[in-house]
Amino acid sequence: MTRPSATTAQRAAELRTALDRASYEYYVLDAPKLADAEYDRAFRELQELEAKYPALTIPNSPTQRVGAVPALALVKVEHHVPMLSLDNAFDAEELSAWEEKNARLNADVRRSGYTTEMKIDGAAINLLYERGRFVRGATRGNGRIGEDVTQNLKTVHELPLMLKGKGHPARMEIRGEVYISHAAFVKINQERARDGEPTLATPRNSAAGALRQLDPEITRKRRLRLFAFHVEVIEGKLPAERQWEVLDLLESWGFQVAPHRQEHKDLAAVQAAIPGYEALIKALEFDADGVVVKVDPLRLQEDLGVVSERIPRWGIARKFAPEVARTKLIRIGLNVGRTGAVTPFAELEPVEVGGVTVSSATLHNEDQISQKDIREGDEVEVMRAGEVIPQVLGPTPEARDRRGRGAAWTPPERCPACGTPLHRPEDEAIRYCENGGCPGRVLEGIVHYAGRDAMDIRGLGYERVRLLLQQGLIKDVADLYLLKAEQLESLEGFAAQSAKQLVAAIDATRARPLSTFLFAIGIRHVGKNNAQLLARHFPSLERIGKATVDEIEAVPGVGGAIAQAVFDFFENQGSQDLIARLKRAGIDPTEADAVVVDGPLSGKNYVLTGTLPTLSRKEAGQLIEKAGGRVTGSVTKATDVVVAGDDSGSKLDKAKGLGIEIIDEGELLRRV
Ligand code: IVH
Repeated sequence: MTRPSATTAQRAAELRTALDRASYEYYVLDAPKLADAEYDRAFRELQELEAKYPALTIPNSPTQRVGAVPALALVKVEHHVPMLSLDNAFDAEELSAWEEKNARLNADVRRSGYTTEMKIDGAAINLLYERGRFVRGATRGNGRIGEDVTQNLKTVHELPLMLKGKGHPARMEIRGEVYISHAAFVKINQERARDGEPTLATPRNSAAGALRQLDPEITRKRRLRLFAFHVEVIEGKLPAERQWEVLDLLESWGFQVAPHRQEHKDLAAVQAAIPGYEALIKALEFDADGVVVKVDPLRLQEDLGVVSERIPRWGIARKFAPEVARTKLIRIGLNVGRTGAVTPFAELEPVEVGGVTVSSATLHNEDQISQKDIREGDEVEVMRAGEVIPQVLGPTPEARDRRGRGAAWTPPERCPACGTPLHRPEDEAIRYCENGGCPGRVLEGIVHYAGRDAMDIRGLGYERVRLLLQQGLIKDVADLYLLKAEQLESLEGFAAQSAKQLVAAIDATRARPLSTFLFAIGIRHVGKNNAQLLARHFPSLERIGKATVDEIEAVPGVGGAIAQAVFDFFENQGSQDLIARLKRAGIDPTEADAVVVDGPLSGKNYVLTGTLPTLSRKEAGQLIEKAGGRVTGSVTKATDVVVAGDDSGSKLDKAKGLGIEIIDEGELLRRV
């Protein structure tokens, strides 16, 4: 291999510097100085040099940020360390309560200091670095499993492909947030409007969307930026003792860290700094929805542990007050959900709330509407808090007093989609359409099944599901698996490539675990969390299909109503037929992550009683199970350990009588 001369190596270095600077001016400063043609010329010269002398290609070269071909689908990857999320504190009292709880575990928190950081409102990402080199980047996904978006992230100018400085642990995951600046957001939407494409709703949605593009070139055009704020070491050591130093380190390695971070000696100082932060956010060039407060010493962070699987005690998001706006309620519309729930929603005269234009909002349920006396035509208050769906708080006092107000709203008697009389269960504020074949339900059910948190069939949204139903190509989710690319090709909005992609995306769902399937199939009351609890206990469709109500209810965290709904679902002839057809199509999911048998509490029977100081019953139950233990409801001779909190009653007495070991929450946490 010919070795490059010193002058050639220097030329390559010059080109890299010039190209990096140009990208920075273009993507970050939004003030390009180098003409496109000039950039292309320099880029090509560097590419040619690197091709001729491969030794010149360094991982950090601008040439390494391009060239990936569009992917067919995003690949799921497991995070080495689950991605955490934070609890919220909406006011000063909630923030103080957080410290109080921590202080009960370790009083040092009162004097160990805090770091505060702007809470950037973008899309969370996880970046794997090995020996200083960026090897993989993933979206958050469900916290445990995300999607590989490495090629897209490589287009983010602010992401170091190779870390600078020193002290990088051999393997680590860097946590951060990608976002789109306000200026870039405006520009992107101008370009989209010009090209006749729909404009994007918020910078945050656009950042999340850009990250999940199949073609990195599209991601590049969104000019994503990046802030880093956290390190999870997998191998090696982090030369930092405090969060403050972690942020310094991240900067020294070449990351951007959100501006305005502060150190405080105690919580009073943190509280005093909050108004300043709140005043600042209006002037920022990116979206922020609060301040993250972190216990400064890393050792203390570790000592405090977690509230539940994904919520650490060491940090909390102090959210700013949500914004409220007034607008006119044009009409109360009705939605038919996949479970048949018919829910009212507000159609509003568009209004800006917290920087976003809102034209519809939730009204929760019919009882709320009558309690608040919300009527069509009223002027109402609308609130939007962070990522949650905007909600109607109620009519303004003026509207309530107005004469000649519209009539009080009456709930629907019949399903707006199929006309079937609605049924309202005694203990619920919701009416249901019980017609399993209701077109409204079927549509919603299939869209839900294909949704991102469910089976995740990319490219199958409302429009296409509606089309497939209209064309008679499907009538339920089992039919999806019989679709052939040739059938789709000729349909509106499809081409040869997109037809193949959809069939491939449907095919890819065969690998999804049972927990995902149980959520996707749409059993009343079964959300993601319950689906997971159920799948861990009954790791196959066959097993859960045969379980009795009692057996299902015995799963910690699963209540009676849920158990009944699950049982009813599998009892139902229609569901049985559907499952049989799915099985014939090769869909028979199982759960690999079934209840752990090998853990510190393996083979031990635990009973929980009383109120524990920090953990809920459910959280404690989950911890025990994760550690291999079993949780049962009543104390018997087979019980090994009773975890007792305040106000423990008869169970505790019985345990004492039987001479069973009794421990408190602290001891439980030590054992797991
Ligand atoms: S620390 C392992 N710090 O807010 C990291 N999070 O509600 C745990 N976020 O999932 C969170 N700015 O996506 C942290 N300075 C910051 C942040 C921040 C934004 C996001 C992040 C996190 C979410 C928690």
